[in-house]
Amino acid sequence: MKLAILSRNTKLYSTRRLVEAARERGHSVRVLDPLRCYMRIASDGFEMHYKGREISGYHAVIPRIGASVTRYGSAVLRQFELMDTYTPNTSDAILRARDKLRSHQLLAAESIGLPATVFGDNPDDTADLLSMLGPPPHVIKLNEGTQGAGVMLTEKLSASKGVIEALRGLYANFLVQEFVAEAKGADLRCFVVGGRVVAAMKRQAPKGDFRSNLHRGGTAKGVRASAAEQEVAVRAARVLGLGVAGVDLIRSVRGPLVLEVNASPGLEGIEEASGVDVAGEIIEHVAGQLKLGTGRRTATRR
Ligand SMILES: Nc1ncnc2c1ncn2[C@@H]1O[C@H](COP(=O)(O)OP(=O)(O)OP(=O)(O)O)[C@@H](O)[C@H]1O
Ligand SMILES: [Mg+2]
Repeated sequence: MKLAILSRNTKLYSTRRLVEAARERGHSVRVLDPLRCYMRIASDGFEMHYKGREISGYHAVIPRIGASVTRYGSAVLRQFELMDTYTPNTSDAILRARDKLRSHQLLAAESIGLPATVFGDNPDDTADLLSMLGPPPHVIKLNEGTQGAGVMLTEKLSASKGVIEALRGLYANFLVQEFVAEAKGADLRCFVVGGRVVAAMKRQAPKGDFRSNLHRGGTAKGVRASAAEQEVAVRAARVLGLGVAGVDLIRSVRGPLVLEVNASPGLEGIEEASGVDVAGEIIEHVAGQLKLGTGRRTATRR
């Protein structure tokens, strides 16, 4: 197949590994910086260019779109979709996953376990909002936060109120969750490809922290997710419409709870911890979809 990888940087581990895995399997592959793709949109047909040349004829595209370029990157990806290029993660699915409130609502509507979560806009509602959540400890998360920065634990109601007031003063978007203490600072990343968990790793927070992010000093090791965990991870990816997803779970007394579904999950940590050729799994999934004919999208040239 002729494959494009949408990525801002060819040197990134995940990008390099996808290129390598595609070439090993005899595919032609090119990395395209989404910010260098530009297009003409008209009712008589689309045209997309890259550094002065027309882009056409790609059978599949694998998006690796970072949070900072979500809007433009997803428009470029949508253009590929409109030009009949298959993608395991559509622009719509990526946008759904990137919006924490929206993805929490969609997952909860399908009865997928989540830590109870509240959000509200007006300071006058804070007291009732927190009473809807239940007693502290609470976890307060900035919507734009990533890699554990912007995730706070408040042990007392006065602390929750204080932090919320401060965040409102800064016009920050946030949500508040019940603290799942029994997770003991661990979470489980399940890497889902084509409706299957192909690799999993457990991340453990460093001593004195409850956040297991590797960037906060957490450690990772490869594990086998239980049948229940695999099922929740696969369902979460399916509800959001993602063929490739990193689903983060925490283990609670009421079973696995979804923390987040990542639409552009990194490959380095998971390949290292699990020893699985995750890049190869992604390439084979994409090639398999094309062979089945499910990869070609029906004409949506409008
Ligand atoms: N409700 C919770 N109860 C217990 N621990 C939590 C809870 N929410 C988050 N954590 C811990 O904090 C870590 C960071 O939280 P989370 O993954 O939600 O934010 P992030 O990593 O900053 O953002 P993102 O994953 O969206 O990039 C989790 O990996 C988990 O270890
Ligand atoms: Mg996280």
